Amino acid sequence: MNCISNNDGKNYVKNFGYLKDGTASTVITLKNDQGTEISVSNFGATITSIKTADRNGIFKNIVIGYSNVTPYEKGTPYFGSTIGRFANRIAKGKFTIDNVEYSLPINNGNHHLHGGNKGLDKILWDIEKIDPQQVILKTVSVDGDMGYPGDLTVQVKFSLDSGNNLRIDYQASTNKKTPINFTNHSYFNLSGDFQNQINNHELILNATQYTPIDSEFIPTGELQYVRDTPFDFNKSTIIGKQIIHTPFGFDHNFVLDKELKHELYNDLYRAATLTDPTSGRSLQIYTTEPGLQFYTGNFLNGTLNTENDLPLNRHTALCLETQHFPNSPNEPLFPNTILHPDTIFTSSTIYSFKIN
Ligand code: BGC
Repeated sequence: MNCISNNDGKNYVKNFGYLKDGTASTVITLKNDQGTEISVSNFGATITSIKTADRNGIFKNIVIGYSNVTPYEKGTPYFGSTIGRFANRIAKGKFTIDNVEYSLPINNGNHHLHGGNKGLDKILWDIEKIDPQQVILKTVSVDGDMGYPGDLTVQVKFSLDSGNNLRIDYQASTNKKTPINFTNHSYFNLSGDFQNQINNHELILNATQYTPIDSEFIPTGELQYVRDTPFDFNKSTIIGKQIIHTPFGFDHNFVLDKELKHELYNDLYRAATLTDPTSGRSLQIYTTEPGLQFYTGNFLNGTLNTENDLPLNRHTALCLETQHFPNSPNEPLFPNTILHPDTIFTSSTIYSFKIN
């Protein structure tokens, strides 16, 4: 593919290498006047890099990512990918719709995780539209794909505005009832140095409840108050102070309180604020989603490396995955995740990058 240039001559559409079957993949870089740069590949609709300034104007990439498709095709723990058809776990890979039981591939202990072993993160999406500030990717997951019913059309739009807001808009439609749950699985370290643990980062989660889980990470179905527990991040809290009270780190879904609206995009509510006091970088997350999985990179164990060949160890990056609750298709009291043929699903999340 020819490269297209934006005003400063920087190529914003580039070849991202070839899949095993020889198909070319693409990476698109969005850039704004503040110098923020966000790269998205059509392989897995994946965010491969987010470069933002610290308080001294030094730009660094603050997400785990690679500059070529090969490691993504081999498989990563979902670095930066769009997750679907169903983000998070479905217990035993089973659910029932209108008395028909569906079985999905088991790819995480006894359960189905993140849409299966060839979910939306492992396919090449069609590029619908590109300009310097936005990219729209689209795919059709056919009836029976990874065991899910219905032909599901999914569109994801990534747009970067001049106020350093990266907005991700999801849209989906189906021709049969089917469960859906989309998220972006970026692993952040706001220092831009993935040799540092994220323990010194400060976090606010606008959540007074969370969904407790069993030993296999499946929600028990209850909602529990976070007050007086290590899950209380309602006030800015140093992650390291709380992580020591958990066996392995955080890997839990929080029930978001919908209070603070985004000043421009006021259909979205503030879910989280993450700050690195050392670099001054801060990330605010707004969403229309009811939940957020806070995952502290517990399964990073040094076997995968950064782009510069440095080992990625436990707790060196974290994910803040806006989503519906895990195992919702089997929990009638959780917010509904079944998409009907006569409706169009929409969902939006903003990552707003600030400097403190
Ligand atoms: C899950 C973790 C999982 C990780 C990477 C997260 O969304 O909550 O349990 O290990 O994704 O696969």
